[in-house]
Amino acid sequence: MNSEDQDANKIGRADFFKGALGCTALAWGSMTLYPIFCYLNPKAGDQEDETQVSSLEVCKVKDLPPGSGRNFRFGSTPAVIIHTKDGEIHAFKAICTHLGCTVQYQQQKDNIYCACHGGQYDAHDGKNIAGPPPKPLTALVVKIDKDKIIVSQS
Ligand code: FES
Repeated sequence: MNSEDQDANKIGRADFFKGALGCTALAWGSMTLYPIFCYLNPKAGDQEDETQVSSLEVCKVKDLPPGSGRNFRFGSTPAVIIHTKDGEIHAFKAICTHLGCTVQYQQQKDNIYCACHGGQYDAHDGKNIAGPPPKPLTALVVKIDKDKIIVSQS
């Protein structure tokens, strides 16, 4: 093998590593950005029709102690259920009324928080109380059947 062949071989390896690095960066970027996109745009990627769900058991009362909350899916719609510190249980569609990000219960402040722009809602009635959200969250109906928490459309 002469030196020209060796130079050609080095350039080939360099191109291979550049290509591999580019593919790795593309794959990493896709794996990182797609979940963020789905989180910020809850309707993206969902095929299930929201109207197929009119009522659903979220959990047992004992699994949601006072001062806690959790997000769940109400069909294709993100929703949040909250057992407030004073013992009331409320559920809302977890779609921020500002730009549609998914909201969640904030235990320390006993309110509902949107991480996108700092919007806050009252955990008792879903009323917008701080930040840019222009209107309250959409409430869902909560019923307790023995020890089960059942949520349905209002
Ligand atoms: S999308 Fe929730 S505060 Fe902006």
